[in-house]
Amino acid sequence: MENYSRRILNAAFFLAGIVRRNTIVIYERSPKGICFFIMCGIIAYAGTEDAAPILLEGLKRLEYRGYDSAGILTINGGSQFELKKDVGKVLEIHLKVNLLDLKGTIGIAHTRWATHGGVTRRNAHPHVSNNGKIAVIHNGIIENYKDLKAQLESEGFHFYSETDTEVVPNLIEYWMRIRGANFVQAALNSFQSLEGNFAIVVIDGDSKTMIGSKNGSPLVLGVGQDRNYFLASDIPAFLDRTKDVVYLYDGDTVVITQQETDRYEILDFRTGKKVERPVQSVSWDIEHAAKGEFDHFMLKEISEQVETIQRAASQDRQTIEEITARIRKARGVFLIGCGSSYHACLSASYLFSKLASFHINTVLASEFSAYEDFLKEDTLVIAVTQSGETIDVLDAIKTAKQKGCQIISIVNVMGSSATQFADASIFLNAGPEVSVLSTKTYTAQLAVLTLLAFSLAGKYDEGVRELKYLWNVVYNLTSQNMRTRLKQLADRLSTSEHIFVLGRGSLYATALEAALKVKEVSYIHAEAFAGGELKHGPISLIGKGTPVMVFVSKDTESKILSNAMEVKSRGGYLIGIGPSAIDAFDFFIKVPENEELNPISQIIPIQILAYQLAVILGHDPDRPRNLAKSVTVR
Ligand code: AGP
Ligand code: GLU
Repeated sequence: MENYSRRILNAAFFLAGIVRRNTIVIYERSPKGICFFIMCGIIAYAGTEDAAPILLEGLKRLEYRGYDSAGILTINGGSQFELKKDVGKVLEIHLKVNLLDLKGTIGIAHTRWATHGGVTRRNAHPHVSNNGKIAVIHNGIIENYKDLKAQLESEGFHFYSETDTEVVPNLIEYWMRIRGANFVQAALNSFQSLEGNFAIVVIDGDSKTMIGSKNGSPLVLGVGQDRNYFLASDIPAFLDRTKDVVYLYDGDTVVITQQETDRYEILDFRTGKKVERPVQSVSWDIEHAAKGEFDHFMLKEISEQVETIQRAASQDRQTIEEITARIRKARGVFLIGCGSSYHACLSASYLFSKLASFHINTVLASEFSAYEDFLKEDTLVIAVTQSGETIDVLDAIKTAKQKGCQIISIVNVMGSSATQFADASIFLNAGPEVSVLSTKTYTAQLAVLTLLAFSLAGKYDEGVRELKYLWNVVYNLTSQNMRTRLKQLADRLSTSEHIFVLGRGSLYATALEAALKVKEVSYIHAEAFAGGELKHGPISLIGKGTPVMVFVSKDTESKILSNAMEVKSRGGYLIGIGPSAIDAFDFFIKVPENEELNPISQIIPIQILAYQLAVILGHDPDRPRNLAKSVTVR
């Protein structure tokens, strides 16, 4: 109860903060319209048929979400668990261990995108409690797992994996075995004490009961014929079996008891009260469903930023503080990356300087060898790379290693080459990015680097708080209204040959990223300049109707608006992005002032604009010509 009150209070403070900072109305979308996606997948089944083939098929259908390991657990005819899991692709694992010979008509299955603990068999899900009676699959992050683990260890529990997830089955066992609760009550109590994002399915071998619950991560219930039920992260996992689904809200906890499965019950774990949700029929096919309501992965991934920025900001404090200490101690720090990742580095260099008065050398990874002579054993190199496989970045890391430098990697893909070479890594936790364009991983990189800058300034808590406030801003920036408005701008710009982009300070890096987004997907020439550079040459390119985007913030306003006026007086078509419009703007995109976080919020409308341009011009936004997701050539 105490915990529950604390959560409510936290939520109230959180919302109060949002309202104070940005006068944006908070509103709700239906769960079907909400664009929260944590990648990797869950599929669970309770019914009358053999579970293993249904679960295996479901895992295959969730493959587009990406994963590093997978596993299936069933309850056999008795009350025993049968479990198989391993590292690798679902089919590889199946060929190795035959996932189909697991017996029973109730089971859970998982594809993992590691966030806590390496990519190993031991860390793969499902996870089982100490007494072997409770099994769990989980997507998301349990932020307070260290505290919970310590409490359970003091009660005599042992842990066999490095995951955050393993606390969940043991917490339920604790409530049942030590505190005498029944399975349902134990699960509700346990979910109440979890902080963070989760979609969880848990089963109890003795009562053959399955419980699925969600808080910030996706989970839907499929209602099949003849007492067959499915719980999954996404509808395609069971779409071949049923089109009848129940969209679940945060707090919803579905209880399915196999012995009397003619109905299921939904409780809210926060109140323990029963809730009613309608069964709705979907008309999608599998291909469509993989992208949810979106036509392309690029737009889906842009929309996911509501959640991925929060996930990137939910780091283990100790890790961030240890890395901060290494930064402080180093004699010379290099931030390196390519493409968008380089832009994130450049953006962060302004922040490190402004917030923490700390100088960082920012270098394109492909140019890093030119700095070889400056590398010493006490130099720190921070490699920023979504894929962790970009060859230019790996070359730079190897050069630095040969010189004895310490390496930190900021990476999305756990287990990737960059993480193997690094002395320590910070993970973006953005889930797989399918579109070739970096969108959600770019803002996740910015979120992590922002957190580091705040930490270096001795303001870790403030950094976390600021990033949390951003939730509401990103929610509005990715809304349908914003998309419709940007479509109008895209219509106007789609016939342009050139688009120029101006910014100052950290928004100069945003301008570079905006130009990259536009050019790589629309194939329109787009080029960015620091506002002050305009008069040193580029202004000769401005004529009547030349589109020029201008990123404006409170601290750059006076100077960048002068540059805007220089454009205007030569007949340019001005597109302003920032907190307030001026008359000279021909088109204005309102983004509330977010101070140090402006580079995260201001790029989002331009990601959408670039997407709209590609669609209007008939290009595939997910697979732009000549580009690859991981650039493994020099
Ligand atoms: C940007 O949208 C990408 N196309 C590209 O520039 C990318 O950022 C670059 O190749 C670096 O990739 P990495 O982050 O995986 O190292
Ligand atoms: N945090 C959990 C882990 O690292 C779940 C990750 C996921 O969402 O797959 O195992």
